[in-house]
Amino acid sequence: MQIHTTIESLREARRAAGRVAFVPTMGNLHEGHITLMRQAGERADAVIASIFVNRLQFGPSEDFDKYPRTLQADCEKLEAAGVQHLFAPDETVMYPKRQNYHVEPDGAQVTVLEGAFRPGHFRGVATVVLKLLNIVQPDVALFGKKDYQQLMVLRNMVEQLALPVEVLPGETVRAEDGLALSSRNRYLSATERAEAVRLVRCLRRIREAVHAGDHDYEKLERAAMTELATHNWQPDYVAVRRRADLQEPGGPEEALVVLGAARLGTTRLIDNLEI
Ligand code: PAJ
Repeated sequence: MQIHTTIESLREARRAAGRVAFVPTMGNLHEGHITLMRQAGERADAVIASIFVNRLQFGPSEDFDKYPRTLQADCEKLEAAGVQHLFAPDETVMYPKRQNYHVEPDGAQVTVLEGAFRPGHFRGVATVVLKLLNIVQPDVALFGKKDYQQLMVLRNMVEQLALPVEVLPGETVRAEDGLALSSRNRYLSATERAEAVRLVRCLRRIREAVHAGDHDYEKLERAAMTELATHNWQPDYVAVRRRADLQEPGGPEEALVVLGAARLGTTRLIDNLEI
């Protein structure tokens, strides 16, 4: 695998690479990321991954400084997954001066859920992903459903800005007990790690209730929030939404997703399940 730290070097490699699939990440790679890499490999001649912890998408009180940076181990995993090129720029390469141009996603899909609890987050995500797409110029880009709203925001950005790239979703990869893999799981103590599975269990219970014909979403959401709070979580939201636009369900026949975000100790976890 070739590691590129400059835009010029990455661009030169990209030109020689044929059809390219791109998987952007912030590193500390786990099986969720690696599954995206393998899926990417099936769709192109070459896979380009990126590792860049993007300051623009972290709020002032979030974990930018302590976000795990594990480049050596990440490179070994990418090699083993058959990734040909890694773009791993410093901040001085991505943001040599203050970034004055941003992608400002707005509208109902961005202001709800994560958008409501993490102001400016999707602006930072959209800005860096547009920049990365401009640098890499891939044919396909892959994003995980684990970050459901992020996937939607990026799909809409690609569509509305007519970017010449196909967006492909990857299914959420989970630990054996059901916890969605996440770089932030490593912040959890052993006790918290055992407790962390409660989030997906709550989401599963809601999915089963809806499948069984219970459409009182507010009641289901409240019950899940209460259960989490009772077990020392600080839930931000548990919400049944339309898959299409993450708004509250209107009528029957709509494809739904249930999403949750909650803090356990100081670690904020998110997860979702399509219903
Ligand atoms: P990061 O959290 O590193 O995730 C990189 C990609 O891996 C994202 O598309 C994310 O949805 C996917 N992913 C994470 N956990 C997953 C899991 N358990 N199963 C499947 N896919 C999973 O998301 C980001 O980085 C950043 O916001 C980024 C898009 C790179 C922009 O900075």
